[in-house]
Amino acid sequence: MTATTDSPSTPEPAAPEPAPADPSRRRFFRQFAGEVISSAAQVVGAVSELRDRSAAEASVLLGDRPKPSAGPSVAGSAASAASPAPVTPTDDAPVSAVFRTPFRFESDTTLLVIDQRKLPDQLVEMPVRTASDAANAIKLMVVRGAPAIGQVAAIGLALTARIAAKSHPHARRAILEGQADALREARPTAVNLRWAVDRLMARYHAIGDLSKEGAEIAAAMDDEAMAIVAEANDDHGRLAEAGLAVLPEVEGRPLNVLTHCNTGPLACGQFGTALGVVQAAHAQDRPLRVWVDETRPYLQGARLTAWELQQAGVDHTLIPDMAAGPLLAQGEVDVILVGADRIAANGDTANKIGTYTLAVLAQRHGVPFVVCAPLSSVDLETREGAAIPIEDRPADEVIEIRGVRIAPAGTPVRNPAFDVTPAELITAIVTEEGVIRSPFGEGLRAAMDRRDARRAADRPYAIEPAPVEA
Ligand code: MRU
Repeated sequence: MTATTDSPSTPEPAAPEPAPADPSRRRFFRQFAGEVISSAAQVVGAVSELRDRSAAEASVLLGDRPKPSAGPSVAGSAASAASPAPVTPTDDAPVSAVFRTPFRFESDTTLLVIDQRKLPDQLVEMPVRTASDAANAIKLMVVRGAPAIGQVAAIGLALTARIAAKSHPHARRAILEGQADALREARPTAVNLRWAVDRLMARYHAIGDLSKEGAEIAAAMDDEAMAIVAEANDDHGRLAEAGLAVLPEVEGRPLNVLTHCNTGPLACGQFGTALGVVQAAHAQDRPLRVWVDETRPYLQGARLTAWELQQAGVDHTLIPDMAAGPLLAQGEVDVILVGADRIAANGDTANKIGTYTLAVLAQRHGVPFVVCAPLSSVDLETREGAAIPIEDRPADEVIEIRGVRIAPAGTPVRNPAFDVTPAELITAIVTEEGVIRSPFGEGLRAAMDRRDARRAADRPYAIEPAPVEA
């Protein structure tokens, strides 16, 4: 476990007392729930129906981008990132087309990302027009969750390639290489970030670093970014269905699932991972009760998971993280489902701080501990957990809760954002290629081979990228 210090500014202070219920917001949440439920219902149906639905969702997400307009220069966009303009869904905007995932396209040159720091009180979008906007949004945790930050990074880099399409090849190379590095360094632990950036840069390098074909480079990187988004939709849907197989059968009572951090659509795109399995079981009308760890210090469980489950109508109870131990000891937890930020080649898994503690408790009490993650979160280049870089986040996240200081000023703090669960404490890893059990090393490699063979046969993404002006 190697610590890295990175100190982006802490989330903004708590929003003022929420205004009286705003009908468009209520309509948004209801629509959001409808989307999640109907998506989950698709999951429980045939995989092919899911793929059709994912392609349809992807076309909504990707396809209805208006014709390209003369995009702002890199500099202009960097300025806009500094002062994100809050955007809320207006009454006449069809809410369903507004929010479906943690981000959506507002135009050909602007991605709108939900500011998750403001949830659940405020629904605000932050415009992303360049790779540095995206790096900013990731560093500040406007968008978070391994799969979502990979997708936003890819789209941000593609937008910069579009802006640099007319630049001189040397200038373009400096811009793309520089922005790619800035994205990779935005947050160190989630491998999806580096994986997505490397995929786009590979398309660029394949065309040629000093190629004069700026439009061709931009189109290829846009194509790769869109493929990453559509594949995530497809993968998470498959993963959610595969995960149903690891849920214990219980008689005459709801199944008690415990989850940690947030692994729903906000963290992933269209479907969640660990929370995707919950939504799929819910859509199958399986009686469920979800224990939601609040997930100190950033409260992803209290703020985001509780919000998503509330909208989805899934029975859930919020708990202080420390309550998990006694609940496990009292036999009130049947299975633990968590996500992952990076799975090493041997199965050791990095996830939100507190996950390792849950795994130790689960083993102590004989409860299945299941990691749900797409293969894009597997890093075969990292042999074991000790080599996974662990992000150290700002002290304020511990000392303050939404701007209210809870510890004496100047209190020294250690705030690792993730920990590593050794493979031997993991019961199963659920992926889009099915359930993998120990020994994880060969299982993960075999799953990746299956995925690559399936991808070669049938790419889930069939939408022409928007043309780039020559
Ligand atoms: O710091 P965060 O909120 O980005 O941490 C997120 C997690 O640890 C998630 O469990 C993980 O990224 C998987 S999201 C499907």
